[in-house]
Parts: sequence; C-alpha cells; structure tokens
Amino acid sequence: MVVDNLTEEKERGAQFLLPQYVQKWDSRCSIRTRPQKLIDFSLEGYFFPPDKQPLLISETVQEFKQEVKEQILILSFFKYLHDIINLEIALINKVCNDVIYEDLPIPFEEYHRLSAYTILIDEYYHVYLAKLLMNQLNEQFSDIAPSDYPISDSYFSVLEIKKELDVKYHTIFDIIAVCIFETTLVRELVTFFNSSDVHPSIKYYVNDHMNDESRHYGYFHDLLTFTWKHLPEDYRQAIGVKIARFVKLYLNINSDKAFNLSILKTLLEDEEKAQHIINDIYKEFEVSQDIPIVKNVLNVLTQVGMMEHAAIKSGFKEIGWNICIKQRLP
Ligand SMILES: [Fe+2]
Ligand SMILES: [Fe+2]
Repeated sequence: MVVDNLTEEKERGAQFLLPQYVQKWDSRCSIRTRPQKLIDFSLEGYFFPPDKQPLLISETVQEFKQEVKEQILILSFFKYLHDIINLEIALINKVCNDVIYEDLPIPFEEYHRLSAYTILIDEYYHVYLAKLLMNQLNEQFSDIAPSDYPISDSYFSVLEIKKELDVKYHTIFDIIAVCIFETTLVRELVTFFNSSDVHPSIKYYVNDHMNDESRHYGYFHDLLTFTWKHLPEDYRQAIGVKIARFVKLYLNINSDKAFNLSILKTLLEDEEKAQHIINDIYKEFEVSQDIPIVKNVLNVLTQVGMMEHAAIKSGFKEIGWNICIKQRLP
C-alpha cells in the first residue's frame, strides 16, 4: 500500500539521518529498557565491596564487630553515590549543556548536540537512581548517612586547574576534563563492584549504570578527538601544559582518605590514633605512571591525538614522567 510504503520510507529516512550513537541509545539506554531499582533487603550481601575499602585491612578495624564493619561499607556506598551525583550534575551535564548551547571555537555538528541530549537524560536518570538508593538506605538504616562529604578528587582537580587558566579557556577545559573522565573512569567503575559478596541489588544497579557508561565512552572519545583537532592553537597551548598536572590531581585519593579518616575518628574517638592508622594504610600510594588507570589515561590521550602535542609532552616532563609515545595507527 502507498501509505505503508511512505511510512516505511520515512522511517528508513529518519533512521538514516540519526547518528549511530543515538540509534543505539534509543534501543539500549537503561531509562527506556530497565525496570525500577529497589533494594531487596531480604537478600544477603555488602553494600560496598569489602576489598575496595582499605580501612578493613587495618588490624584495629578488623577487631571491630561485624556490624560496625558493615556500617563502614554502607557509609562508603553513600560516599560513592554522592560522588557520582556531583560528577554527573556539576561536570558532565554542565559540559553537555555547553556543547549544545554555548558559542565555542569548535564547529560542533548537529550529531554532537543530539547525542549530548541523550547523555543529559542518562546522567539525570543515574542521579535519580543514586538518590533513590540513598533514600532506601536511609530508611532501612536510620541515622547512618554521613553528614558531610569531602570534595571529590575529580571535582577538586578541575577547580584547581581552572584557577591557573585564563577564564577564556575554562569551558573548553571543562569539556576536555569530562571527556577524560568519561573515557578513563568507566573501566574502573565496571570492575569495582565485581566482588562476589556485594549485595545483588547493588550489583544490578551498578551493571545498569555501566550499560549506559560504556556507550558514553564512545561518545566522549569521539568528542575529545574532534575537540582537540579543531581547537585553536592558543587553547591547545594553554590547556595542553596543564593536562599532566590535571591527570595527577584527579587520580589522587585524597577525598577517600579524608572520608575514611572522619569515619575512624568517629569510631575510635581518638584523633591521633585515627590519623596514625590512615597514614599507615595509605603510605605506599602514589599516582605514578606505572599504575593501570594512568596507563589507560595515557592510552586515551594517545588515541585522540593529544600526546603528540609539544605542550602536553612538556607538561608530563615537568611532573617527572617520562612518557614514550607510540605512533597512532592511521
Ligand atoms: Fe552516569
Ligand atoms: Fe556518563
């Protein structure tokens, strides 16, 4: 029939016009395809992977009652959700709005803007879910939620670097920073909750989040390549020299350290002892070019064409990292 043919043709046309990313989003994004996330408190499991909470390796903490150790894990999960909410709202969604609405020196295409809308929807949904989980935990374990959270290392790093940059470069730096977060933190987050003793409802939530984040990886990888390629040289110069310091700052764990210190202070009611334990737990940690996540970051910077730039190379030299750059494949 003529009408059916026309409809079919229109649909085919519409599909052809949509970028592949948006087609994938349409059929696979969590908000459209996954059911509501409620915690089933009748099931067993921890709310945070015990092997990712370094406080639990301290002999003093090991002597605490099981109930207290479980509370530490719930507190850690609150912090994790709090950091996610902040990252998504204050940085990722801010950057998506910049790509869509700001007048920038990059010729973003319609498909960049259209896909940025899909990211905004996903990230607001992730924020909603994180809030929903926090509320359920609050209801189940009253009086346990932390009253204060230290600033995350990712947010701190962006604020610090922007203090050193002319205001003219701030929005583009935000875009580059978020592209780096979205292409490097993802893999970490996917494996983070893999431990077998994590509560099934939390695993389910994390898996759904990652269902979206693995798609975001593709978008932000392309966005970073495009942004760097079309950036005026003065922007590359000004921002490029800061990238190494930014990487070192955002991969730090000062925020977790401060949070764990506050937990210990409350539990031990002995500031000096708490500080001593924290210093001991974290004494080996240093952001160096040998840790796996740093290697991921360096790989991404190489793939998107940033590592070849003299300003970026000089920044890494300045922080004492000797980076050997593999040539990109054509
Ligand atoms: Fe997200
Ligand atoms: Fe994301």
